[in-house]
Order: sequence, then structure tokens, then C-alpha cells
Amino acid sequence: MADGFTIAIDGPAAAGKGTVSKAVAEYFGFAHLDTGLLYRAVGAKVLAGRDALDAARTLVVEDLEDDSLRTPDVAQAASKVAVIAEVRAALLDFQRSFAARSGGAVLDGRDIGTVICPHARVKLFVTASAEIRAQRRFAELSGRGITDSFETVLADVKARDARDMERVEAPLKPADDATIIDTSRLTIDQAVAAAVAAVQAAGGQKA
Ligand code: DC
Repeated sequence: MADGFTIAIDGPAAAGKGTVSKAVAEYFGFAHLDTGLLYRAVGAKVLAGRDALDAARTLVVEDLEDDSLRTPDVAQAASKVAVIAEVRAALLDFQRSFAARSGGAVLDGRDIGTVICPHARVKLFVTASAEIRAQRRFAELSGRGITDSFETVLADVKARDARDMERVEAPLKPADDATIIDTSRLTIDQAVAAAVAAVQAAGGQKA
């Protein structure tokens, strides 16, 4: 019943789209792919001296399970390899096959509703102001013992926004038919409830 029912969730860094995506996938019993991990895995390999395109073409699922993919350095490296058209092309099939799997799928990223799954049944764009996103990321990093200052985290968020939105290839932007969820003044529960309601309004049901 949920076969081929794809939910595309896009948005800038630290807007809460990962949390919302996980919760929506759990609520409906759908599979979830955090597509940022693909770019992070390629970015991490580039930091280790590999060629970006070669790394993208030879990526395996196990590469996505590395805990070190969550560091600020890898995030910036991911955003840099993500501007390369050939890298994006090399990661396309994996994402489209995941989206088409039986039982329903949630994919989150930057270009899911616009490029990867333009025919997704539901498209959400989860966003928040740069300051609020930096505050959340700062709290998260501090909790993990990473001691970057708030100013550094805010500058990182803004640099990544600029690179992700201004690139020529698949820039970050809401699809024309996306529902915008601004989480600046929402709790996690409220953001998840808004996302679940949007999926239900589009006919989404538990798998
Ligand atoms: O969602 P994230 O912060 O893990 O993503 C890391 C970087 O990867 C992001 O700054 C841009 C890139 N990315 C992308 O270009 N397209 C996607 N679908 C997902 C991530």
C-alpha cells in the first residue's frame, strides 16, 4: 500500500530535518535515508587524500556508518564535494533506488524534492533562521565535547548555506510544491506533528 510512496524532506543545515525525517519514517513505518551522509562519506575520503569522484563512484553502504562523519570538518568537506556535478551524478542511482523501495521511503537532503524525487508524493522544506540553527548546532556540538565557539558555528552554518544555495548544480531551494515548515519557534514535537499532518493530508498511511 505504501509502495513507492516517497516523502522528500529538504532544508538547510541544522534546521531539524534529520530529527523530523527520522520521526516521520518511524511514525509511518517507512525506510529513511539521510542523503547528507553520502556527501559526508565522500567528503571524509577527500580529507583522507582520495579523489572526490573516485570516492563517490566506489562508495559502499558501510561507509555511511562511520561516526566520524558528524564532525564540522567533514560537514564543510561534504558541502564542497557537493558542488561537483559528477559527484552528484554518481550518487543519483543509489538515492533513486532507495526512494522506489517497497514499503515507503523518507529521504532527507538538499535536492530531494527538486532533483532526486521530483514526483515524490509529499515534499517538505524544513527551515529555521541561521541564528537559531547555529544555537542548536552549538548546543549539540558542546554536548559531544567539540569546543568550537558560537561565532565559529554561526560562520560555518552561513558558509554552508551560501555554498549549498548558490551552487549551479541542484542548489538548495524549496520545490514549488513543497510545504514549508519553519521550526524557529517550534518544539521538536510540534515540528514532527506538522510534518506528519502534511503527509497525512497527501494520503500517507502507516505501512
Ligand atoms: O545534511 P548534511 O548537513 O549532513 O549535509 C552535508 C552537506 O552535503 C551539505 O552541506 C550539502 C551536501 N548535500 C547535498 O548537496 N545534497 C543532499 N541531498 C544532501 C547533502
